[in-house]
Amino acid sequence: MDGDGSISQEPLISYGSKRTRKIIVVAFGVGIAAAVIAIAIAVPLASNSGSDDKTDTGTDTLEHAKDIMRRVPLVDGHNDLPLAIRYEWKNQLANVDLNSDLSSYGLHTDIPRLREGLVGGQFWSVYVPCDSQYNDAVRQTLDQIDLVKRYVKQYSDTFAYVTTAQGIVDAFVAGKIGSLIGMEGGHSVDSTYSNLRMMYDVGARYMTLTHSCNTPWADNSGRSEDDLEFGGLSDWGKDLIREMNRLGMLVDLSHVSVSTMNDALDVSQSPVIFSHSAARTLCDNTRNVPDEVLERLVENGGIVMMVFYPGFINCEPNKQEVCDIPQVADHIEHIASVCGYGCVGIGSDYDGISVTPVGLEDVSKYPYLIEEMVIRNWTDENIEKLIGRNLIRVMQEVERVRDTMSDTFPYEEWIERNDSKAEFNNECRTHEEDGWASYPSSQKASEHLATTQCD
Ligand SMILES: *[C@@H]1O[C@H](CO)[C@@H](O)[C@H](O)[C@H]1NC(C)=O
Ligand SMILES: *[C@@H]1O[C@H](CO)[C@@H](O)[C@H](O)[C@H]1NC(C)=O
Repeated sequence: MDGDGSISQEPLISYGSKRTRKIIVVAFGVGIAAAVIAIAIAVPLASNSGSDDKTDTGTDTLEHAKDIMRRVPLVDGHNDLPLAIRYEWKNQLANVDLNSDLSSYGLHTDIPRLREGLVGGQFWSVYVPCDSQYNDAVRQTLDQIDLVKRYVKQYSDTFAYVTTAQGIVDAFVAGKIGSLIGMEGGHSVDSTYSNLRMMYDVGARYMTLTHSCNTPWADNSGRSEDDLEFGGLSDWGKDLIREMNRLGMLVDLSHVSVSTMNDALDVSQSPVIFSHSAARTLCDNTRNVPDEVLERLVENGGIVMMVFYPGFINCEPNKQEVCDIPQVADHIEHIASVCGYGCVGIGSDYDGISVTPVGLEDVSKYPYLIEEMVIRNWTDENIEKLIGRNLIRVMQEVERVRDTMSDTFPYEEWIERNDSKAEFNNECRTHEEDGWASYPSSQKASEHLATTQCD
């Protein structure tokens, strides 16, 4: 979900008027399943041996791209379908058929188009807005996690719930779209390590440290670097990175300030991801990754998953909201030129953005971007890295680091409260330090109950 950016300010997307729902049930063949048998091995996936074969002249470039996508899963880092379902259907899956064409609602995602686009794996975003911070962010996040788990189960012919690198591969081999959960914004854990652990337990496999608001421990990308609240991450925030490493949860640095990126890279023992960002050198937007941070990914092993939001791709004055496939590919090539073919990925932000590049209008269009990389003479090996191998490698490494930390004691410290800050004075929250131990008999607690506006 993108509603920020110092240059571009895209509106909260509307998921369309309630036009008549078209029900087009598409039956899927088993072509995909047949085509992937060749990779029916554990990670790493079967590699294309002649890895630097150029595009054969005379070979159809689109077919070549699709062949690669049938061998190695394209794993997208960020899709906001859960948000769209919340807005449009209040999470009531009985009222929507994901097997139908949902484009009349303005959605970019449905099962027929995912299949047409040969999507192999997906991080489903369980985004909740910044105004839920200090209020019901945890509750809303759990609503969204429940929603993802329910539609994955309901459409089990298509989706498979997975939480590991191996799970992504196994789902792909079985002809399913491996479905993972990504939390977009540190406010989803309401500043406790215990909430972070519980979110991991219910399936969250990455957390974007902030959305477009600061948490009480991290500066977001909308904050000027001259006016940071924490200079990046506070000490509590740095320990949160260590706890994420210990749990095996990916640290996502999309949406954070450059200082936060650097602090996280200083602390993290595991590779990080940018689940949906682009290159700042080509488009100077604070949502994008500057070259000096890209350079650090070489040592860290992390990846930038390329976002499709035009406002982050084409920053020419008056050209915002307009871009095309070659411009998306330019960003990918720039990122690769700075930190190598091992640091690229794809993270569209479909259904979290109001505009899309020409040629990449919805999830059915990924093969055309991959075709562009074929046309640009990217080797099959490098295209495989771009679409899925890099992400799978990062997850494997995050799991390996987790395993080395099994003796590390969980982080327990509570975040320091600052009573001068409105968010901590919120009357809707229990003030534990003020006598929670004797609650509810204490005078303070009954006064609090008498005055609270929350019931
Ligand atoms: C790709 O390689 C072919 C054959 O060597 C060449 O003709 C073509 O110009 C190259 N395309 C690009 C974009 O470099
Ligand atoms: C608490 O917050 C207030 C208001 O933002 C700020 O002026 C003050 O410096 C903060 N105190 C601490 C100890 O962080």
